[in-house]
Amino acid sequence: MKNRKLFTLIGIATALFILKSCSNGNQNKKSEGETLLAANCYSCHSPTAGMDSRLAPPMIAVKNHYSKKYTSKEEFVTAMISFIQNPTKEKSLMKGAIKKFGLMSQMNFEEEKLKKIVTYIYENEISKPEWFDEHHQEKHQKKSENKEETSPLKKGQAMALKTKSALGKKLMKAINTGGSAHAIDFCNIQAMPITDSLAQLQNALIKRVSDKNRNPNNAANTEELKYIEKVKAQIANEEEYKGEVSLVDGKWVGYYPIITNAMCLQCHGEIAKDIAPATLAKIEEKYPNDLAKGYGVNELRGIWVVEFPQ
Ligand code: HEC
Ligand code: HEC
Repeated sequence: MKNRKLFTLIGIATALFILKSCSNGNQNKKSEGETLLAANCYSCHSPTAGMDSRLAPPMIAVKNHYSKKYTSKEEFVTAMISFIQNPTKEKSLMKGAIKKFGLMSQMNFEEEKLKKIVTYIYENEISKPEWFDEHHQEKHQKKSENKEETSPLKKGQAMALKTKSALGKKLMKAINTGGSAHAIDFCNIQAMPITDSLAQLQNALIKRVSDKNRNPNNAANTEELKYIEKVKAQIANEEEYKGEVSLVDGKWVGYYPIITNAMCLQCHGEIAKDIAPATLAKIEEKYPNDLAKGYGVNELRGIWVVEFPQ
């Protein structure tokens, strides 16, 4: 019994330490709730991703739905935590989102952490994507009926997003279950069968490549590097960047940017600041030629490459 308490204490101390070492670098005093929200939820509920490159509704939309139904803080927090710990269709207030993105998966978030995150969501203004207000005036949907959806660019993007979503859920669950060092074993997308029926149906090939790759098999080729350099320059100049598709030997080849968020830094951030020693050891053991460290948020980590027949 005593031991268990001790372990919990050590666990909390470690979490606080990691949290502290993460936020230290940001200099500005972000609250714990905000940091946790960004690190645990924004990989899917991003406040910046465009309307057609998202994995889930922006958190502001989620908050709006819950505030409408649950007026007291207690009800709001209880209902939201209950959904996150065990997402079901019955509990959902956002049936449209389930249709569009699929039900949120169960990711073993700690209850203490969730309380802080959800309380933060209730008490604070949540940043919203640029398109958000406009989208609401237009009243949902419209976009998904757009004919453009079937263009090769969109087709490839849909497959990349599906794969990203499958990988993201697995990764978050692995991190929550055994920490980021343990999760290193789960990150290998090569090992992950592309179960997505859409990709299978299209006979598609999907990979992630980078100019600073971790796995030697993920090095970008000359064409891919050209696109990567272009997007990096666009990000640096605060210009808009987009996916691209071209016909190569009778096949469509699509490129789509992969941008970092706070969650990624525990494995791709700076060594002393973001990456815990145990995680670093595991990375060095499995990837002795790793180039994929030293990133901050909102940087180009690499790209999806999706190949599919005409
Ligand atoms: C791997 C992707 C992913 C992550 C990470 C994620 N979510 Fe979600 N979440 C989704 C998707 C997809 C939906 C929309 C479908 C749905 O409602 O189930 C969703 C919906 C929700 C909803 C609305 C549920 C409803 O329908 O009423 C809440 C609340 C929510 N998420 C909270 C969170 C919080 C808080 C976090 C971070 C602790 C988080 N999510 C992390 C994918 C994710
Ligand atoms: C738990 C640690 C961990 C986290 C968190 C993590 N990654 Fe990785 N990432 C890895 C490992 C390990 C590889 C090498 C995978 C392989 O062998 O194919 C990798 C590979 C990649 C690659 C393929 C190119 C390469 O360098 O080999 C991309 C792109 C990538 N990660 C992006 C991200 C992004 C974006 C995030 C955040 C949303 C993220 N990763 C979060 C561990 C992680």
